[in-house]
Amino acid sequence: MDLPLLAALGALLCVCCSIEEGSAYTFRTFMGAEIATTAISSSAVVQRPCECRALCRDACVAVAIRRRLPSHFHCSFTEQKIAFTNDLVASTLDSRVFYKRQGCRTNFTLVDNVGCIYVSTVALNFTAAAASCPFDSQLFTANFLIDFNAMREYLLKNADSSSMNLWIGLNRTSNIETWKWFGSGTIQAPTPVGMVPGGTIPPSPYWGKNDPNENSDCAKILLKPTIGYFYHVADAQCSLEYKFLCKQI
Ligand SMILES: *[C@@H]1O[C@H](CO)[C@@H](O)[C@H](O)[C@H]1NC(C)=O
Ligand SMILES: *[C@@H]1O[C@H](CO)[C@@H](O)[C@H](O)[C@H]1NC(C)=O
Ligand SMILES: *[C@@H]1O[C@H](CO)[C@@H](O)[C@H](O)[C@H]1NC(C)=O
Repeated sequence: MDLPLLAALGALLCVCCSIEEGSAYTFRTFMGAEIATTAISSSAVVQRPCECRALCRDACVAVAIRRRLPSHFHCSFTEQKIAFTNDLVASTLDSRVFYKRQGCRTNFTLVDNVGCIYVSTVALNFTAAAASCPFDSQLFTANFLIDFNAMREYLLKNADSSSMNLWIGLNRTSNIETWKWFGSGTIQAPTPVGMVPGGTIPPSPYWGKNDPNENSDCAKILLKPTIGYFYHVADAQCSLEYKFLCKQI
């Protein structure tokens, strides 16, 4: 395929990535690295980094992305299994390599734009759930709304009816309107019903329309179509026992 055509395809595939890093989570990132010239199978010049990742399809194993001034990005693709211990990778300060996950741990499923996901078979309280995600994983967190929505869409298609409530890695801080993802990042929540209204937080695309409403510290995602919850966030008492959603780190 010629370069302009390839670049146009990248832009097309990337329409979804309105938030720049949105589709990065099916890749592992290595900063300061470039694919060695001998390993490059093709290349392209695009306008946004996510277009490089979107173009890494099928046989493509990894893509290196480098800024090309003034406002473009250069992608180098490889179909070889590069490793950071072999000579297919060169250290380059202003370049990043996105390496496709070649599969997930046992019992995890690779979900596009999300990462490797596991739905527990047992129901536990929040603390126990947080401690029970399999090795190398933690309760689900979303870095961006696009990841959160991709997760919801996957569950809507694939989760069974015993998984209407799933704990995720989000809990309340001392500020009742601020909820913290495990690791890092926060999302805002409307003031809970019955609390002094702050009135500053607009409806949130993460939360179900009636939540938070329990004055509780822990967050689950809830499937309840009758009230418009399609795995939207709801607060729940931390002592309740639910299945839980884990994501490989
Ligand atoms: C995968 O899940 C099965 C069924 O729940 C379980 O018996 C097995 O130990 C799990 N394997 C790993 C590696 O966690
Ligand atoms: C919930 O958040 C607090 C800090 O905001 C933390 O100390 C606590 O351990 C968290 N709960 C769990 C189960 O991780
Ligand atoms: C959560 O469950 C664990 C183990 O099942 C139990 O020891 C703990 O007391 C429970 N915590 C809460 C807050 O219910």
